[in-house]
Amino acid sequence: MLRYQVALSDISFKVMGANLRLFKAMHLPVISTARPFEFYRKVFFEDACQADVLSSLASKRVVDIGCGLTPFTEDSMFQVCRRSGVDFYGIDPKLADGFKFGLFDRLKSVATGATSMPRADMPGQEKAIAAFADNLPFADQSVDLILSCWLLFAWIQDETLLVLIFTEFDRVLVPGGHISLFPTMGWPSVERRYPSLAKLLASYQVSQRFLVGVNPSSMPPTFVTRLVKYLI
Ligand SMILES: C[S@@+](CC[C@H](N)C(=O)[O-])C[C@H]1O[C@@H](n2cnc3c(N)ncnc32)[C@H](O)[C@@H]1O
Repeated sequence: MLRYQVALSDISFKVMGANLRLFKAMHLPVISTARPFEFYRKVFFEDACQADVLSSLASKRVVDIGCGLTPFTEDSMFQVCRRSGVDFYGIDPKLADGFKFGLFDRLKSVATGATSMPRADMPGQEKAIAAFADNLPFADQSVDLILSCWLLFAWIQDETLLVLIFTEFDRVLVPGGHISLFPTMGWPSVERRYPSLAKLLASYQVSQRFLVGVNPSSMPPTFVTRLVKYLI
């Protein structure tokens, strides 16, 4: 990890913090987007081809926290996994009310890379579950991989809530299971800013990769972080 990468990601998170404060001041909810499988593949699977991604997930339970509109778009990780028989769940509290697919959500989805419009009648909705990240509907040690794209650290920056969420992740993850997050700061910055969280995750193995994309609203210069729960 290079110093300029850490500095750039710190700046990206300052911008995100300012956006978040603006949203809160205006009492606006978190925007729900639908980044496509292509985005998840590049970010979370190091650009591996689709067949390799899917074969790495065969017989695993995968949960996408803060899945947004992805269960409703043809090109999403949710739908690609469903079509291939991967045991993949989307979790988002907004699913309780049914997404309304407002114009702003659609526009933001397209702006962040969705190549198809959300449709309410997409199959597989039994695995699109309304829940909060800190209260997941899964048994202890029953999940192999947790993904979370553009929620934790970006929209949820409160340390108390992050600790509750990662405590819940630790409960549901199998030993040796992974958490993959994007975007994140460099881990030294995470440890400085969230000391209680760093303590909670001290036994996890942390690795990070720096990413920078052409569209800064979707891929600003930040890190993707992989946390591996130690085998006991
Ligand atoms: C910016 S969207 C990201 C959607 C998708 N992962 C993507 O990258 O396009 C963040 C989503 O997180 C959801 N969310 C907000 N608070 C949450 C919480 N406490 N637990 C789970 N999801 C939450 C929001 O409803 C929103 O749909």
